[in-house]
Amino acid sequence: MKNTSVSQRALVTGGAAGIGQATAFALARIGMKVAVVDLDAGAAARVCEQLIANGHEALAIGAAVHDSTQVERAFKTIDEAWGGIDVLVNNVGISVVKPTLELTPQEWQHTLDVNLGSLFHCSQAAGRRMVAQLSGSIVNIGSIYSLMAAPNRLTYCTTKAAVAMATKCLAVEWASSGVRVNAVAPGYVETAFTAELVRTGKFDPAAILKRTPMGRFGTAEEVAEAVSFLVSKEAAYVTGQILGIDGGWTAYGYV
Ligand SMILES: NC(=O)c1ccc[n+]([C@@H]2O[C@H](COP(=O)([O-])OP(=O)(O)OC[C@H]3O[C@@H](n4cnc5c(N)ncnc54)[C@H](O)[C@@H]3O)[C@@H](O)[C@H]2O)c1
Repeated sequence: MKNTSVSQRALVTGGAAGIGQATAFALARIGMKVAVVDLDAGAAARVCEQLIANGHEALAIGAAVHDSTQVERAFKTIDEAWGGIDVLVNNVGISVVKPTLELTPQEWQHTLDVNLGSLFHCSQAAGRRMVAQLSGSIVNIGSIYSLMAAPNRLTYCTTKAAVAMATKCLAVEWASSGVRVNAVAPGYVETAFTAELVRTGKFDPAAILKRTPMGRFGTAEEVAEAVSFLVSKEAAYVTGQILGIDGGWTAYGYV
């Protein structure tokens, strides 16, 4: 049966920080109930306290979303609280920056599990509910590295490219069931994730700014607003798309 409830129910993975947190707030602002699912249960609870203090409905769930058992438990908690789900944002992602010759099998496997396993487990759990109700929207957080390559980032680029293809596969599989699946591909955004890469010397912010046509980093809010658009009714005919939020990075082909 088609879900006709007014307030949509959203789940944001990794919603306790950075782009996920900004997305939780953006979805709440457009009237959604938001479940923040994060490894860091305390941080998820703090984000939800803020959302509730701002007059929104929110649910904090501590879970590692690359573990299918914990994902099932998280979806059951949302079912019990809200009777199902309408929007899923697959935001969790990690990066390993090191030469491929030094990459360990454990690092390779863990990045695959976190960046792709989480997408599979959460999309399947959401899809079971959305396909049955003939409505729903999923947004995956890709990267400019879904589309372009960089040295010393084999696991990140490979998994983010797979996020783009998974987006298209799920979009065409579930389109006739009223479920839309899209992705955003952010460029460099100021979050704890990038701060750590700068701190450990994994990238040079000045070089990144020089390479970015708009000459600045993106903000988590700018990515979140694009996610809000993709899940909104204004994007009702948009599916299988990878929307770049990158200040011109992927368009740029000069020196
Ligand atoms: N920051 C950037 O410049 C940038 C650019 C392009 C794409 N992205 C992508 O955006 C997404 C979010 O990035 P961010 O910079 O906001 O990250 P972040 O590291 O600031 O926040 C990630 C959140 O996810 C949680 N998390 C990590 N692994 C988890 C797991 N297995 N289960 C549950 N929660 C988990 C963390 O606790 C944290 O709260 C990632 O997929 C990343 O690849 C980021």
